[in-house]
Amino acid sequence: MYIAHTIADLRNHLARFTRPAFVPTMGNLHDGHIALVKQAKTLGDVTVASIFINRLQFLPHEDFDTYPRTWDADCAQLEAAGCNVLFAPDEKVLYPEPQTYKVHPPAALADILEGHFRPGFFIGVSTVVIKLFSCVFGSTPGGVAVFGKKDYQQLMIIRHMVRQFALPIDIVAGETQRAPDGLALSSRNGYLSESERVEAVQLSLALKQLVRDAHDANAELAARLPELEARAMSKLTKRGWVPDYLTVRRQPDLQPPQAGDALVALGAARIGSTRLIDNLEVA
Ligand code: PAF
Repeated sequence: MYIAHTIADLRNHLARFTRPAFVPTMGNLHDGHIALVKQAKTLGDVTVASIFINRLQFLPHEDFDTYPRTWDADCAQLEAAGCNVLFAPDEKVLYPEPQTYKVHPPAALADILEGHFRPGFFIGVSTVVIKLFSCVFGSTPGGVAVFGKKDYQQLMIIRHMVRQFALPIDIVAGETQRAPDGLALSSRNGYLSESERVEAVQLSLALKQLVRDAHDANAELAARLPELEARAMSKLTKRGWVPDYLTVRRQPDLQPPQAGDALVALGAARIGSTRLIDNLEVA
């Protein structure tokens, strides 16, 4: 695996390829990331991953400083998955001066759900992603980037951004990988204590129930949704969680659904000091 630490080195190395398949990450890799890398291997002529912990997407009280930095293990996993190129810039490479030009995704998509509880989060994500795209695809005709459905709102926003800026990059979604009990794999699962880890699956179970309830509500979905969401949140609260939201939205733009829309249930909740997110698409 070729490791590039500078933009010039990365672009120079990738210039001979026509369709890089790219998986951006913040490191602390788990099987969910590795599944995305393996998917990327089927999509392009060179597979590229990045590891960059992006300060811009963390709020001041969030875990930027303590976010696990697991370089050796990450490299070993990427090598084993057959990743060809790793881009690992340090902060001075990606942000040599304060990043005053930023991508502001539309409020209707980015200030709801995660964006409501983490103001500015998607500005940070969109800004770093467009910059990483410029680094990875800057010397090629374009390519493909793979984003996990686990971060569903992020995936929708990046798709929208790529479409609006007419970037020559296909955005491909990777399925959420789950532990045998159903917990969605996440870098933040490592923060859970043993008992919290056992409890953690309840978030995905609550989303499953919410999907069933939404299905049963059928034509009355829009009217009954507040009651169904409140019930789902209250069940988690009684188990000791602090939910931010559990909701059902229509798939592409995450707006409140009408009967007949393709739906997705999304949730975010804190167990102890760990905030978990998950979602479930309804076919
Ligand atoms: O999903 C993530 O890990 C991050 O938001 C991303 C896309 C790597 C941008 O920092």
